[in-house]
Amino acid sequence: MAGRLNGKRIVITGAIGNIGKEAVRSFIAEGARVVIGDIDEKAGRAVAEELGAATHFVQVDVTREESVAALIEAGAAWLGGLDVLAQNAGLQRSGAIAEFDQANWDALFAVNARAHFFGAKHAIPHLKRAGKGSIINMSSLAGKRGGPGLVAYSASKGAVISFTTALALELAPANIRVNAICPGWVDTAFNQPAIDFMGGASAQQQKIESLVPLGRQADAAEIAPLFVYLASDESAYVTAQAFGIDGGVYNG
Ligand SMILES: NC(=O)c1ccc[n+]([C@@H]2O[C@H](COP(=O)([O-])OP(=O)(O)OC[C@H]3O[C@@H](n4cnc5c(N)ncnc54)[C@H](O)[C@@H]3O)[C@@H](O)[C@H]2O)c1
Repeated sequence: MAGRLNGKRIVITGAIGNIGKEAVRSFIAEGARVVIGDIDEKAGRAVAEELGAATHFVQVDVTREESVAALIEAGAAWLGGLDVLAQNAGLQRSGAIAEFDQANWDALFAVNARAHFFGAKHAIPHLKRAGKGSIINMSSLAGKRGGPGLVAYSASKGAVISFTTALALELAPANIRVNAICPGWVDTAFNQPAIDFMGGASAQQQKIESLVPLGRQADAAEIAPLFVYLASDESAYVTAQAFGIDGGVYNG
């Protein structure tokens, strides 16, 4: 079924990484036009070129409010308005708490949590103008249930879940929906710091086989359908949710 996002105007951050790029591919395959924001300008322009005329790249550093505001304004101008904001940019750093320092803690919170506040704040006026909207916040299984070496990452992703539910309640009267996506292990280089912390790839494999009921990691493309659903009007009655997409780990 194609065309589920016909006419939708979407801005997505962290849009050239593994999960983000798959989400963009699915958005445009379903008929959306997409502004892709990322800090990596060279790769971002290459991705926009590869994905074609339904995409437009704008460089953004999500740790700076003025940069996020500029992304939203440039995005809404190119799109002719805004229906969906997907906040996917993320950072992972691992380490035992005794060795973890404030700079790393602050870096994780700036990208993984605070950026969601900037994005939502500047997107809301555009979504209100559209009469409805969807904000999709990337959290993680780690935001529901952390793990060793992931104290700061887990806390930053947990903040996304409570931010999401609070904002959903605040924006429901404006018909703006806010939901979070909570993937478990996804097979991307993003997890290398956590893999190093647990002792390398074979230790990670053992952990996945023992912890994940479905017995494997997700492919990045397996997260994209949830982005599409939450961006589409099929989810018109869905808000304030934190959707696990984790092979069963959380309830396993
Ligand atoms: N890979 C996993 O197992 C997994 C699991 C759960 C949640 N997640 C979340 O999914 C999201 C995407 O992860 P991924 O695996 O595709 O990783 P990735 O590293 O491929 O993607 C992250 C993207 O964020 C961008 N980014 C980082 N800092 C930025 C900044 N300051 N401003 C703008 N963009 C910035 C990066 O350039 C990159 O394109 C992240 O939020 C991550 O926390 C990943």
